[in-house]
Amino acid sequence: MVGDYLFEERIATERTRLGTLAERLAPSLRDRDSEALDAMMRAACAEMGGRLILTDGYGKAQLDTEGEVNGRMMDIRQVTSILVEGLDRDYAVRDTENGNELDLSGVLFMSRSAGNWESVCTAAVIADSSVQGVLIYLSPADAIMRSVYQLQDRILLVFAAIAAVVVVVSYIFSRVVTRPLAGLTRGIQHMSKGDFSARIQPKGSREMVQLANAFNSMSEKLETLDQSRNQFVSNASHELKTPLATMKIMIESLIYQPDMDKDLRTEFLTDIDNEIDRLSAIVSDLLTLVKMDSKDIKLQRENLSIAELCRETEHRLKPIAEKKGQKILLSLTDPGEMYADRSKLTQVIYNLVENAVKYTPQGGVIRVTLNRVGHEAHLVIQDNGPGIPKENLPHIFDRFYRVDKARSRETGGTGLGLSIVRQLVMLHGGTIRCESEEGKGSSFIVDIPLHQG
Ligand SMILES: Nc1ncnc2c1ncn2[C@@H]1O[C@H](COP(=O)(O)OP(=O)(O)O)[C@@H](O)[C@H]1O
Ligand SMILES: [Mg+2]
Repeated sequence: MVGDYLFEERIATERTRLGTLAERLAPSLRDRDSEALDAMMRAACAEMGGRLILTDGYGKAQLDTEGEVNGRMMDIRQVTSILVEGLDRDYAVRDTENGNELDLSGVLFMSRSAGNWESVCTAAVIADSSVQGVLIYLSPADAIMRSVYQLQDRILLVFAAIAAVVVVVSYIFSRVVTRPLAGLTRGIQHMSKGDFSARIQPKGSREMVQLANAFNSMSEKLETLDQSRNQFVSNASHELKTPLATMKIMIESLIYQPDMDKDLRTEFLTDIDNEIDRLSAIVSDLLTLVKMDSKDIKLQRENLSIAELCRETEHRLKPIAEKKGQKILLSLTDPGEMYADRSKLTQVIYNLVENAVKYTPQGGVIRVTLNRVGHEAHLVIQDNGPGIPKENLPHIFDRFYRVDKARSRETGGTGLGLSIVRQLVMLHGGTIRCESEEGKGSSFIVDIPLHQG
């Protein structure tokens, strides 16, 4: 662009000068006043430098300030363009050695010739509206070409320097960015192979550190999830295996002792029947849990009275409690209408009261207290049973967790009740916790919002 600009400026000045000179020469050329022409051309030449040649209307040189080509035909393109094509001026930069013209639009990319450059500027000499001849102005263009070459070199140098800096900077930058990414990629690959123990070191930019931390907490969660899933599967298989093993032994005895005592036979069959009940209880609890895990459980909410659900539960469990000489005492202050799932909420209350009845020995007292705290229903199921040891307390809501394995089996528990209860309470947006003192009894405290969503 700068090269073009340099040339354009020169072209513009030379053209105007030559144009003015051609106008002044025109009358003298028409009148063939060679002396006047000669004087004017020499004066102009002294002022402008370079060389002036004047041709007649056929392109034949009439006057050359250097006196070399007088009388010769000026057979160059810039002259014919005026005489034949009718232009009034023309311009070119050419190599004096071989006459090659310079393509002005491609200055920067031209090949460098060692030759000398000159500019050729032509103008029509017009008098009485007819072309009398052509005025040619030749001047050296080496200086301008040299500055174009220099400029070209400098620009190339600057470009090379910038390119080098860009390459270096982008390399460093990409290392900084990609190295932590490579660590992350390795971590993800480990994970996709099922190894959730992969952790990555948080380093690099702030965003990378955040990403690494997010990845680590995700893999930690997945690891615990994976472990608890394995635990769950092994617990479940174990729970299912025990009744099956018992049943197998009893059935084998029945097969190999065909003449068994009738009463013993009935007892065995009753035991088998009980084991089958246990198995179906476990399976149906498992199904409930799996359903809740896969999130396709939907609450069927309706307006209900939670106090009424408490009374219903008491009514259902009363016969069992009475058999054990226990009392269920209700102290219900209706917290008002509640928007909840009737059967699921019943399951919560039933499970808790059933546990209390089940784990409290003969003659115990179970208190069910209900009232309203803020916008929540506050339900407490308290017993004066054996309580739960401190070290077991954090686990009682875990799947299959039972404090006293042997006794609990004998009472027919699956260890899934409380974990189902907690899930159901959480589905209702509520919380559940247990307070217990060994030897004194336990309290299960449930808080559920009256209206939600
Ligand atoms: N009211 C209670 N008093 C003492 N222990 C309890 C009480 N409720 C639950 N537990 C303990 O918590 C364990 C888990 O309860 P749960 O999940 O309902 O399983 P289970 O099928 O054994 O009843 C029980 O096995 C029992 O050891
Ligand atoms: Mg239970």
